[in-house]
Amino acid sequence: MMTSFPSDFLWGSATAAYQIEGAATEGGRTPSIWDTYSHTPGRTLNGDTGDVAADHYHRWPTDLEIMKELGLQAYRFSISWSRVQPGGRGPLNPEGVAFYRGLVEALVAAGIRPVVTLYHWDLPQELEDEGGWANRETAYAFAEYARLMARELGDAITVWTTLNEPWCSAYLGYASGVHAPGRTEPAAALAAVHHLNLAHGLAAIAIREELGEGTQLSITLNLHVIRPDDPSSAADQDAVRRIDGLANRVFLGPLLGHGYPQDVIDDAAHVSDFAFVQDGDTELIAQRLDVLGVNYYSTTRVRAFDGEGEPDQADGHGNSAATPWVGTEGQVEFVQQPGPYTAMGWNIDPSGMHDLLMRLHREHPGVPMMITENGAAFHDVVSEDGAVHDRDRTQYLHDHIDAVGRAREDGADVRGYFVWSLLDNFEWGYGYDRRFGVVRVDYDTQERTIKDSGRWYARLIASGQLPDVGAVTPVPAVP
Ligand code: FCB
Repeated sequence: MMTSFPSDFLWGSATAAYQIEGAATEGGRTPSIWDTYSHTPGRTLNGDTGDVAADHYHRWPTDLEIMKELGLQAYRFSISWSRVQPGGRGPLNPEGVAFYRGLVEALVAAGIRPVVTLYHWDLPQELEDEGGWANRETAYAFAEYARLMARELGDAITVWTTLNEPWCSAYLGYASGVHAPGRTEPAAALAAVHHLNLAHGLAAIAIREELGEGTQLSITLNLHVIRPDDPSSAADQDAVRRIDGLANRVFLGPLLGHGYPQDVIDDAAHVSDFAFVQDGDTELIAQRLDVLGVNYYSTTRVRAFDGEGEPDQADGHGNSAATPWVGTEGQVEFVQQPGPYTAMGWNIDPSGMHDLLMRLHREHPGVPMMITENGAAFHDVVSEDGAVHDRDRTQYLHDHIDAVGRAREDGADVRGYFVWSLLDNFEWGYGYDRRFGVVRVDYDTQERTIKDSGRWYARLIASGQLPDVGAVTPVPAVP
């Protein structure tokens, strides 16, 4: 049976400021931690930086035309904090604000709903110099920035998302160091988890104070689907519990009003006493979520480490001598999973999407969800006809959107889907080597080409029904 979606299901695509904008030093923008990190030798593949990226800062009108051609109903993008508020404190920079206001007004005029992320990993460097997310003050600075942006962009925004994937900000940024700011301090990573949660709560309060209760508020999490290597092993099940705590429950708990899970606090007692959680914080964090943003790419498989040799570390989160899984050293192994794989080395398993949505539906009923990211990197080939026949990406999207449809049929309240990504872009530590776009970017010329997956996605949006993978409706080329 063909999977279909209701007419009010929101179809969109997602991007993030540092990954596409470029114009790193223009219009009054000051460095973020990703500028510093990517300019540090050895940090990113080929030494790539976001200095130019997809040059979206200058080419956004072209990109908007592409969005229209694809028939996108919504566009999820992030605001570069240091572009609108250089240094992360003080008055807004009118030139930076004007860039986003122009984009938002044009989106609205085109009937494309703006879904804003206030923080997609690009902390102003000055705030990192004062301790970054390990410093409680950063949460208050973030709330002030959120308030000012709510005042500026106001009602034009369909959904305000506070943070993208705080898991990555905290653990990859402060524990394993494969993301900016590149620190390897486990205790600081746990403090960062809490201060990110707090930042979300304070920002949600500030945005509602500015825009009223009708404003749609969200946070996007990269929740992990964690499977035991041997389901019959109690030790492997306990490894799942530990990783689930650090990956999922340390966010879902406080955000949804249940506080921090005691088992996580106990497991990490040798790293931190959690003294950073002050009286009243859990109430501040637990603000009503109008929608939960869910990012899903692949699954995770763990087993209890038996102490023999070196533990496997195939968690898909990059290579580092330091683990992002704070406090689990010597306890848990991340097992290589069966393929197929994307160019990221991530296993392809659409059943994980269904399992994740059903778990959230069961454990947190009444919280509407949107898939705010899902997609795949493959090493695309430009054919002689100039097209990108990315059947592997189309298949990936087909199978995962089908899984979303099945979860909906099984009762999960999923209201939208955003493909990652609109454009090929700066894939963090992997630089320009990994392409996630449904639109190709030629980095020499900045020319854009809608890939077959993009044409397939356009057909899905137009019909509300999942087309066959081979079915592609020609879309006229962008002039
Ligand atoms: C997510 C990020 C996004 C992109 C995809 C591939 O973790 O939110 O920016 O890098 O992965």
